[in-house]
Amino acid sequence: MRIIQFIVVILAVNLISIESTFADYEAGRAKAEVCAACHGSDGNSQISMYPKLAGQYKSYLINSLHSYKSGERKNAIMSGFATGLSDQDIEDLSEYFSKQNGLKVIPMK
Ligand code: HEC
Repeated sequence: MRIIQFIVVILAVNLISIESTFADYEAGRAKAEVCAACHGSDGNSQISMYPKLAGQYKSYLINSLHSYKSGERKNAIMSGFATGLSDQDIEDLSEYFSKQNGLKVIPMK
């Protein structure tokens, strides 16, 4: 019986953590409007000084935005934008940009 209780607790904890990081593509699209001026509306920037975000790995985008926010990665422009983003915003934006056609990343073998 104890083992079943244990499994139920583990499942419940997992459910909570999955839910709290659930990425919302449509919310990401709406939140990406402020990024469009530099990165393009779908993340395909036409200006070389602004990196393309379209098709980038989601984990890379999440990591970059957290790094700007924490100050680990320094850039005057992006730090300003990232400071105002919540974990959920970062999740949604990264979901949206990673799903756009753009960068073709060759998978490592
Ligand atoms: C005013 C222009 C501007 C706006 C608006 C802007 N960015 Fe950026 N972004 C930049 C620049 C410039 C860089 C490159 C900074 C660097 O060298 O680290 C960058 C870099 C990034 C990177 C890292 C890309 C990489 O390849 O490492 C991410 C992710 C990113 N921006 C996401 C966003 C998101 C999400 C938004 C909207 C919330 C946004 N940016 C709004 C100018 C902008």
